[in-house]
Amino acid sequence: MIKIVPMKEEHIDGVLAVEEAAFSIPWTRQDFEREVKENAMAIYFVALDGEKVVGYAGMWHVITEGHITNVAVLYEYRRQGIGKLFMENLEKAALEKEMIGITLEVRINNEPAQRLYHKYGFRAEGIRKNYYSDTHEDAVIMWKYYPCYEDYEKHCNNE
Ligand SMILES: CC(C)(COP(=O)(O)OP(=O)(O)OC[C@H]1O[C@@H](n2cnc3c(N)ncnc32)[C@H](O)[C@@H]1OP(=O)(O)O)[C@@H](O)C(=O)NCCC(=O)NCCS
Repeated sequence: MIKIVPMKEEHIDGVLAVEEAAFSIPWTRQDFEREVKENAMAIYFVALDGEKVVGYAGMWHVITEGHITNVAVLYEYRRQGIGKLFMENLEKAALEKEMIGITLEVRINNEPAQRLYHKYGFRAEGIRKNYYSDTHEDAVIMWKYYPCYEDYEKHCNNE
């Protein structure tokens, strides 16, 4: 049975194993330590199978927006709904904090991830050309706006 819990320092070894298996430009231990110990904007979750970290996901709460930094699941645990559990937990956190929406960047060729985000109502809003330094792939910028976004826009336009 998979449990989703907030990421803590004790999970970092496991998170690094997921990170290094999933990404060609992995974040380092220092990156994750900074996120867990110092970054007040950071909202991170891990998926645990017993004690084992089998995935992680994170987001920064930037003023009124959520910026997803990463979502990754160990290869042998994919297609079992863990990505969906992460999206649900990130969205719950975003709504609790009254964010106006969530955004992210994803490699243009990363179909599994784009399908996951699409399923949760994210839509492509733009492209960052040559965003990834290893392959020079473009990034697709995706957004999901919440209902309060319209109020927020009106409020901003009236100021
Ligand atoms: C993207 C990723 C996190 C998905 O995790 P997951 O636990 O396998 O996702 P889920 O099992 O919850 O799948 C949720 C939905 O995503 C889509 N999806 C996930 N993997 C897919 C695949 N290989 N092909 C097509 N669609 C896929 C499907 O719509 C799926 O819903 P369904 O099972 O009802 O069809 C995982 O593939 C991964 O870790 N990839 C490597 C890291 C990465 O690229 N992260 C994204 C960085 S932006």
